[in-house]
Amino acid sequence: MSRDIAWQLVQEKVHKDFTLKHLLASEAIMRALARHFNQDEELWGIAGLVHDIDWEQTETTPEQHSLIGAEWLKQAGFAPDIVEAVRVHNHMHGIEPKTLLEKALWCAEELTGLIVACAFVQPDKKLASVKTSSVKKKFKDKSFAAGVNREIISKCEEMIGLTLDQLIEIELKAMQAIAPSLGL
Ligand SMILES: [Fe+2]
Repeated sequence: MSRDIAWQLVQEKVHKDFTLKHLLASEAIMRALARHFNQDEELWGIAGLVHDIDWEQTETTPEQHSLIGAEWLKQAGFAPDIVEAVRVHNHMHGIEPKTLLEKALWCAEELTGLIVACAFVQPDKKLASVKTSSVKKKFKDKSFAAGVNREIISKCEEMIGLTLDQLIEIELKAMQAIAPSLGL
């Protein structure tokens, strides 16, 4: 399964610019995490890119989110590792992530939303102006981007062995590298 085919499928199913950008950010952070852990960068990147593919179809049925997407991906012939990582990533199901890929997607993609929110409050609204320290500060300020689930992100330490600082550093750099695609 190539990245091109994955992106084509994403564009068939996802139409909102905000969701597409979240998926591109998730691809970038998953690629960076794969490099960090010496894992298959292409596989991890695609998992990030497609993980919310059913987001728009499950807006009113969040309990279906990720189950429908995983089924589509399975039908389309995506690698079982990707299908399973997508299926378990919806915290609502309470499925314990098992592989490193599943764990990374489960706890790390949530942070992309906080990083985007940090860019929005910069005077120039650019990711380039965001620093690791300011993301950390905003992480502690629970009223800032309140929809971002800090509890999930905090699990990264026990799940994939990265401190919050390390995780922010890796994700921020990865997102800065694709800032134009994110419109930031
Ligand atoms: Fe997501």
